[in-house]
Amino acid sequence: MNIGVFDSGLGGLTILKSIIKEMPEYSYVYLGDNARVPYGNRSPEIIYEFTKQALDFLFKKNCRLVVIACNTSTSTSLRRIQHEYLPRFFPDRKVLGVVKPAVEEISSHGYKRIGIIGTKATVNSQAFVREVKKVLPQADVYQQACPLLVPYIEDSGRNQSVLRLILKEYLAGLEEKKIDSLLLACTHYEIVEKEIEQEVGPSVKVISEGKIVAKKLKDYLLRHQEVGKDLQKERKVSYYVTDLNPDYQQLMKLFLGHLLEESQVHHVKIDQ
Ligand code: DGL
Repeated sequence: MNIGVFDSGLGGLTILKSIIKEMPEYSYVYLGDNARVPYGNRSPEIIYEFTKQALDFLFKKNCRLVVIACNTSTSTSLRRIQHEYLPRFFPDRKVLGVVKPAVEEISSHGYKRIGIIGTKATVNSQAFVREVKKVLPQADVYQQACPLLVPYIEDSGRNQSVLRLILKEYLAGLEEKKIDSLLLACTHYEIVEKEIEQEVGPSVKVISEGKIVAKKLKDYLLRHQEVGKDLQKERKVSYYVTDLNPDYQQLMKLFLGHLLEESQVHHVKIDQ
């Protein structure tokens, strides 16, 4: 069986890239719902519906375990997926998200003034705040939604001076709070991690999720041999997208780090 990786679009390839680097031996199925990205401005109810459709698809593709790479889906839907959808429809499968691994990393360093940036839906869900407070009850957590960052990163004409303006606008409030760490709680932000580091300066530890999620998944598989034993080690990666729009190849290259042949990417409809 395979490991599935799901994202609202193509940004989740940053997470897949790290997972493959950590564990190249397994077979992976990536699904990017790029026909409906961004999820970040949508309601929790519709994000939950889209997430269920994505999981239905990935389970049909023989995924034993799915990692929801999307912060927006994880924050708004993972609890319901684990408590309602899985027990009812796929009791023998597993779904993991990105919130827990990121929060475990934060707690292992004992940060005290934590900044979190993400989409509007991620911020509104309060999922990160809830999880941080469970493990670091004394910590102060400050969130900032950054709705312009995803479209900026996806725009091929990216312009550094525009980025600096956007970052100043979004990060000024967090800097005033004297944060000691800043979690990039969105698949896309890793692409502009350097620029974010420059903006907040060396006193703030900037944390992106790719490597953390990959390491935690490896730990998970070591602890859960009942899942690991079902995974085939064929080193195959299949890519599925819900829209073959004019930009998809360039975006996949941006997030994955290399170009894929057209024949490697399959178009699929999941909203039926
Ligand atoms: N993948 C989403 C996330 O990590 C960002 C894009 C979107 O808004 O759908 O939150």
